[in-house]
Amino acid sequence: MKNAVKGDIIYSSSPDKFEIFEDGYLLFENDKIIGVTYEINDDYEVIDCSKKLIIPGFVDIHIHAPQINNIGLGADKELMDWLETYTFPEEAKYKDMEFAQKSYEKFVNKLLNNGTTSSVVFGSIYNESTEYLMDLMDKTGLRAYVGKVNMDRNSPDFYIEKTQESVKNTVKFVEDTIDKYKNIKPIITPRFVPSCTSELMTKLGEIAKKYDLKIQSHLSENRREIKFVNELHPECNCYVDVYDKYGLLRDNLNTVMAHCVWTDEHEMQMLKSKQVMVAHSPYSNGNISSGISPVSKLIKNGVDVGLASDVSGGHEIFMGKVIVMASILSNMRWVHIDDAYPQLKFEQLFYIATKGGGKFFGDVGSFEKGYKADFLVIDDDSLSDSNDRTVRERLQRFLYIGDDRNIQSVYVDGKKIK
Ligand code: GUN
Ligand code: FE
Repeated sequence: MKNAVKGDIIYSSSPDKFEIFEDGYLLFENDKIIGVTYEINDDYEVIDCSKKLIIPGFVDIHIHAPQINNIGLGADKELMDWLETYTFPEEAKYKDMEFAQKSYEKFVNKLLNNGTTSSVVFGSIYNESTEYLMDLMDKTGLRAYVGKVNMDRNSPDFYIEKTQESVKNTVKFVEDTIDKYKNIKPIITPRFVPSCTSELMTKLGEIAKKYDLKIQSHLSENRREIKFVNELHPECNCYVDVYDKYGLLRDNLNTVMAHCVWTDEHEMQMLKSKQVMVAHSPYSNGNISSGISPVSKLIKNGVDVGLASDVSGGHEIFMGKVIVMASILSNMRWVHIDDAYPQLKFEQLFYIATKGGGKFFGDVGSFEKGYKADFLVIDDDSLSDSNDRTVRERLQRFLYIGDDRNIQSVYVDGKKIK
């Protein structure tokens, strides 16, 4: 069956251009976009969303599911103390399935209600609750990569694994989930270099290669963290070289590294040449005093960038607000630190929150032919003013002052999931 959604359609085709069809039709067949037009024939069943905005679903390229209860808490500490004080004790609770179930239900509902149709997710170190999370995301109809986290050093005794147990549980996790779902896939998830021994990292690199899996981790986020990595690995020149040495920088958009606030020229070249995607996490970088990322410079130098809430380092799950914070920090970096790279424009910001991050999933985040039919219907009537506004202005206003209440429906693969 062919379908058409009628409404005010806006999406990114490239980082500097919106495609806009006011009172147009978004055409799709089964799970794929056919195109966008102003006129259709009788072959289509029409969903009338006139006067509503139709936009691609958001892509959150880095988020921690077992930190959902900590949203809005703990921004009084810097990364390493924040992990020890707030984060590890909270994640350790996900050994308890009853706690995990009620918390993950909240997490999945929040993603759905905020229109985050695709996400790249850290679970906890526990297989059982991480697999439960995947079941739930699958039942809800979302698209995601989800990882069982690995940690076998520099972690509290109540939240740490033995190396062999971590490896064994990872293989089981992968084999349990790799063919189980259509749109939910496992991803290899070493937490970050400080919490994984060389032996564990080597094994995880081998597992990723053997099963052809994507990898997610954290890189060059915070000064104290980077100093610690340099002390732990004097045999490597720098942080990114540690991941590379252990086979954890899988190329061609198979790896996502969160933050990269302190990326230097060498690291930037590595990220670019291997096509490692950077998860830009502006709220988190501000909350736990990591820094103001050189994201414009990364983009200008050809590094792939996606946008991330990094809940609960970041306290906003709605990607509209994350776009706004990315814009503010980019402005401030230009004013205070480096005017060689211009501030991110609205077009670029929306692009990284949709099509840019969507590249990690394949053809996701746009309305070009062949893309996945993942879209949101936005009722922005409550945000209107006394002027006629363009579709671009209405989108901008929704992102700045709208929220989940404006998201009327959510579609993934052409199916209505909310
Ligand atoms: N580095 C290692 N673990 C984490 C985490 O949970 N959040 C953030 N922001 N950085 C990390
Ligand atoms: Fe993170």
